Amino acid sequence: MPTPDPNAAELAAIADEVFRTQYGSAPEGIWAAPGRVNLIGEHTDYNEGFVMPFALPFYAVAAAAKSDTWEFHSTYGGGQIVRADSIDGVEGWAAYLAGVAWAMNESGYEVGPARIALHSDVPHGAGLSSSAALECATLLALSGLYGHDIDRTEAARIARKAENEYVGAPTGILDQSASLLCTEGHAMFMDCRDLSREQVPFRLADEGLAMLVIDTDAPHRHADGEYAARRADCEQAARLLDVEFLRDAPVDATLEDDRLNRRLRHIVTENQRVLDTAAVLKSGSVAGIGELLTASHASMRDDYEISSVELDSAVDAALGAGALGARMTGGGFGGSAIALVEASAAPKIEAAVIEAAAAASLPTPRVFVARAAQGAHRVR
Ligand code: GLA
Repeated sequence: MPTPDPNAAELAAIADEVFRTQYGSAPEGIWAAPGRVNLIGEHTDYNEGFVMPFALPFYAVAAAAKSDTWEFHSTYGGGQIVRADSIDGVEGWAAYLAGVAWAMNESGYEVGPARIALHSDVPHGAGLSSSAALECATLLALSGLYGHDIDRTEAARIARKAENEYVGAPTGILDQSASLLCTEGHAMFMDCRDLSREQVPFRLADEGLAMLVIDTDAPHRHADGEYAARRADCEQAARLLDVEFLRDAPVDATLEDDRLNRRLRHIVTENQRVLDTAAVLKSGSVAGIGELLTASHASMRDDYEISSVELDSAVDAALGAGALGARMTGGGFGGSAIALVEASAAPKIEAAVIEAAAAASLPTPRVFVARAAQGAHRVR
């Protein structure tokens, strides 16, 4: 068993304590799954394109044991235990857990009831995949308890099924794959068509660089409806071009409808930017990806129209203060931005981002330095 991430180990100690307090016995095991930052490749996953996430050192941790009935407890579920005789129709935060059990059963990996206590420090509502982290920690816990050794690619598909069909969010496979498959010190280049992937060294410190994550603390406005609308635009564009997915659109393809044409342009150029980012990183330069990150933001702001005032403010302020590149990350309409910076300039850039938000009367962003951490793993 690999050494657990130090933060995951600390969170596990809390989950262990919570489990014992809630259920009056010890858990059989404790599993951790991280949130993620997507370095580049946004809204490309459901177009069968390319993505490049890395795992954050923030984890959802599940302490679990087999039981006669389903019992779910989460430190951010308001302290209550959700008990269920069956896993059908569970709502609220516990739906992410019940949904995984359902999806595992549907996929032929039978899991019986269990007691689970969850603890997580993945910022909630920040576009850093706190829900995928819950799903993936639960999936590993149930696989461990019930003796299933599920291939991680298959596990990502199962966790996505839970999110799509049980929770009802029409997302792609980026977040669950990132949580389950990323490795420490790497950004993961992944082809969402066949989930083939390559771990690309992402050594910020070697070049004196740092990656800032800027949680704008702005609510995700209309995120669900707009996300579905973007998917529908892509499907329509693909139909007009007579391809199954925009991944297959010719690079010089255009559409008469201005909106659809811009959606198409984002997907086609974003896929190319992911390929370019992987190539630049593999050539041994992290600083060299800065311009690609910034170009990706412009494409999301202007062509895909998924940015927000808060995200644009953070990106512009970071670039204005000397960041090498910056972009929003994740689904958009709120959430977080990232900025690639010289480590020595990080405090100045953080201050500039906070100042810009204050000047525009926006919520004060929370800024932290990210590292590429370990994907989901058993802690004990
Ligand atoms: C959300 C979804 C992912 C992906 C991103 C955008 O995080 O859950 O599947 O589509 O948005 O890249």
